Amino acid sequence: MKPFKVAILGCGTVGGGVAKILLEECKRVAERAGRTIEIASIVDLFPSQSAQRHGIDPAYYCGGGKELTPREAARYIRDILSDESIDLVVETIGGTSPEIVALAHDALRHKKHLVTANKALLAEHGKAIFITAAEQKRALGYEAAVCAAIPIIKAINECFTGDEILSLSGIMNGTSNYILSQMEAEQRGYPDALKEAQERGYAEADPSLDVNGGDAGHKLTILLRIIFGLDIGSDDLQIQGIESITGDDFEFANEMDCSIKLICYAKREKESVFATVRPMMVKRGNLLSRINGATNAVQLRNKYAQQSTLIGQGAGSLETGSAIVSDIVFIARYGDKAIRNPALYAYQLKSFDELVFPYNVTFETANVPGITGIVTTAIGKYEINIDTVSHNRYHASNAVFSIVTMPCTHRQIANAVEEIKNRHPSSLLAEPKIIPILA
Ligand code: HSE
Repeated sequence: MKPFKVAILGCGTVGGGVAKILLEECKRVAERAGRTIEIASIVDLFPSQSAQRHGIDPAYYCGGGKELTPREAARYIRDILSDESIDLVVETIGGTSPEIVALAHDALRHKKHLVTANKALLAEHGKAIFITAAEQKRALGYEAAVCAAIPIIKAINECFTGDEILSLSGIMNGTSNYILSQMEAEQRGYPDALKEAQERGYAEADPSLDVNGGDAGHKLTILLRIIFGLDIGSDDLQIQGIESITGDDFEFANEMDCSIKLICYAKREKESVFATVRPMMVKRGNLLSRINGATNAVQLRNKYAQQSTLIGQGAGSLETGSAIVSDIVFIARYGDKAIRNPALYAYQLKSFDELVFPYNVTFETANVPGITGIVTTAIGKYEINIDTVSHNRYHASNAVFSIVTMPCTHRQIANAVEEIKNRHPSSLLAEPKIIPILA
């Protein structure tokens, strides 16, 4: 069988990992694919830097190793797309600029299979790209886009096909998990832990997407499409980041035998799907509470197979590269049938506000007689049953305490908080923090 030819567009951290694995593992990869997989060409603006960093022969790079202008790179990409001998394009440039969106469609229209790690691209433009792939009868591989080395896309598309996934809880951003783990284990402040995560290279170029839940939201959006057939963008999700988590929150969590994690959560109830990304207090009995550092984990609750948890590395050059190579191998072996296009169903995304959880609600109030009564009276009015009231912590002259509720909705709590603000305007000194508790 003739070799399967691959072009790599963008040879930075991830593209370089792909090239390195394809070159180092060519024999093993050929055995698994049933044919030789060849790198036909690589396009990168800074080839010598890339070649040196990843140990790749500069001859693979368009332009013979000299730096390219964006215009030259675009011309080389056009040449690759018009080259009928090239079977598959790896897009590891990243971003969601109009040029990248157009590149994804153009590659497919030029009859190339497309493999990408670009979660933002698929979260924001996935539907149209899936349609182009189906129209052109070409495969679209994106295993690397969600939790990199964890084979969650294949698990969902290939392995749980005899089952029904009822809910998902995941730690899908390594940077925020690293920060929270450091805050918990070393009692470090948030800014300090963020700085270290950046120095270790876990964070995205713009770390705000890691800590504000945006990156995890992109990944959850992709999973919602393939698990529940939901046709949404990540802007439709209710997302909250970890920026406001403090040492006090970890103390309250500890009292409840919980850790705090940034959780991607989704659950189907009848024709509705509830989904969100937000910090949750996770009971220590739940394996997710013990996933520390930059590691990712995705827990699926299935109708028949019950619970499965996949744990692994959600970032890194070779880790992400290995997921991309696995897509390349699948596509070389099975062509456009390699990866199933997600079917869309009529489920509705429902507001997370209506989903029932126990909550930890932290109040910062003036330290005056009767304040606990004001808070608990409002909570009772909205029929929220209190489980525990924590010991008070004092900050200067303020009182800080948390109330753990029995299962109720976020909306009930938000209503009680509004009631307190309206009836006793000066009693709350900060916005109460409402954190779900995941058993
Ligand atoms: N920066 C991401 C993380 C990896 O920290 O998990 C790529 O999505």
